[in-house]
Amino acid sequence: MIRINEHYKKLQSSYLFSSIAKQVSAFQEANPDTPIIKLGIGDVTRALPPAILEAFHAGVDEMGRDESFRGYGPEQGYAFLREAIAEGDFAARGARVDPEEIFVSDGSKCDTGNIQEIFAEDIRVAVPDPVYPVYVDTNVMAGRTGGFTDGRYRGLTYLDATERNGFVPRPAQLEADSESPDLIYLCFPNNPTGATATKEQLNEWVNYARKNKSIIIFDAAYFSFIRDESIPQSIYEIPGAREVAIEMRSFSKTAGFTGTRCAFTVIPSELVAWDKSGGEQRVHALWNRRHSTKFNGVSYPVQRAAAAVYTQAGRNQIRELTDYYLQNASIIRKVMTDLGYSVTGGEHSPYIWIKTGSDSWSFFDRLLNEAGVVITPGMGFGSNGEGFIRISAFNHSEKVEEAMDRIRKALS
Ligand code: MLT
Repeated sequence: MIRINEHYKKLQSSYLFSSIAKQVSAFQEANPDTPIIKLGIGDVTRALPPAILEAFHAGVDEMGRDESFRGYGPEQGYAFLREAIAEGDFAARGARVDPEEIFVSDGSKCDTGNIQEIFAEDIRVAVPDPVYPVYVDTNVMAGRTGGFTDGRYRGLTYLDATERNGFVPRPAQLEADSESPDLIYLCFPNNPTGATATKEQLNEWVNYARKNKSIIIFDAAYFSFIRDESIPQSIYEIPGAREVAIEMRSFSKTAGFTGTRCAFTVIPSELVAWDKSGGEQRVHALWNRRHSTKFNGVSYPVQRAAAAVYTQAGRNQIRELTDYYLQNASIIRKVMTDLGYSVTGGEHSPYIWIKTGSDSWSFFDRLLNEAGVVITPGMGFGSNGEGFIRISAFNHSEKVEEAMDRIRKALS
């Protein structure tokens, strides 16, 4: 008799954004005349910038001629893209990442979800609360947690990200724990709070990981929204991080690739984990083994399109794109602040985290029913999200303005 992976039974019935999508469809069916504005899931709405589109088209044309056609690409991604990334994202910021340390993939959701499988089943895992649910759910699926009680999975270490610490968890929070976590997920600029971490704060985490032989999974999907030069964009700007950190980045939010799909993971050559006999194992080799076994690469035209992000025209155009969404974020921040709510994020991030003080799913229902606007209830990101909502700045500016007018009316 075929049996299921029992750990799936511990999961909440559906993935956060799928639950929201179902509720929104049900509402739309019942209220076909209410035009809904979506500021829920962080999905980009503006077209691919012209320099990127042109490279994409050129890549497609190459695939249409025998002499330039490509079949399977190199396992880790084409060198032209990995070299552009190493130079444009890291060397330009004084951080060392070699092209050979980059694995091109079809998304950071997949990479942040899959990476855990190269580590032992019984490692201790720490996640922020609130958190991007993928880090949690994939560890639940892998059997690293107990059941779900009072909004948390037993056996996971939760790093509180609250008003008290400016939504930036610190290693000092772990001092009272008898065992240190082995795998630590961090995301900055943060999803969902929009908080950013300073060099000193990241330095504390790097030092903690070095001392405790842990690995940090650093999700930098939103780095391109950082506007303050003093805020680190990569964990590799922190000395010693290459020994303890894996970084993930995506072209989704940076360059409008949510529907195009391209991202990458960096695994420095010196990063090691240990086998049960205490032998050092290179994490790069493990991930390479996994990647080449389970993944066959991002399509050539998409990699060409991604490489165009690093041309001068591409850089200017993606800057304009992220500026546009940040302008939306400032509109959202202003309206919610004027309405008397305490607001964080939205300055170096497309997400605005708003303290409503009330049941977050009821607030979601209220905004859907009374304003026809979809937001994300904070509780969907963890128990510390109760009393908060997240509003995404990803939409056309006219839509954002209209949504905020409707919210103003509904809440005034
Ligand atoms: C979000 O809304 O949190 C993100 O869009 C989800 C994702 O990138 O997968």
